[in-house]
Amino acid sequence: MKIAVYPGSFDPLTNGHLDVVTRAVAVFDRVVFAVLVNPRKAEPIFSTDVRLAVIREALDESCPAEVAGRIDVESFDGLTVDFCRRRGAHFVVRGLRAISDFESELQMAHMNRKLDPDIDTVFFMSALEHSYLSSSLVKEIATFGGDVTQMVPPAVARRLAARVPSL
Ligand code: PNS
Repeated sequence: MKIAVYPGSFDPLTNGHLDVVTRAVAVFDRVVFAVLVNPRKAEPIFSTDVRLAVIREALDESCPAEVAGRIDVESFDGLTVDFCRRRGAHFVVRGLRAISDFESELQMAHMNRKLDPDIDTVFFMSALEHSYLSSSLVKEIATFGGDVTQMVPPAVARRLAARVPSL
């Protein structure tokens, strides 16, 4: 069975992430959303538990049952390659939005392969309509009361609205 891990902060999940994971499911037997517990970035808008719950909700609401049923949602701390080993995954999935993503993604892919030569990274080009999306911009727009409903799944929009009352 071909298992892939899709690691990230997912703070919050965007339509771009959903696009990548559904396309990855067309290639792999199972895909594991791996939510990093302590992202190095600024203060997370959602706790790990909320991020996990929102992803599960979004998958159940937005994907056919056959697709959602082949996606697991888990958290991890530490190295992505260690999580991959624990899950029996030989592939890491990442999305590429633009050239600007390439350099850091290339570095991570090489580094992960150095750490474990049995783990390869597979990239999906973000769909054009999602190529401008990023979790950090969504977070910033939502924090200032902007409308992000076109950028995130309804499950995320609901949680953001509950957290930012002016939305
Ligand atoms: O969504 P993000 O923040 O771009 O995801 C980055 C992530 C989680 C994939 C990356 O920071 C990561 O893999 N972190 C786990 C620690 C690790 O394995 N570091 C070495 C990467 S070469």
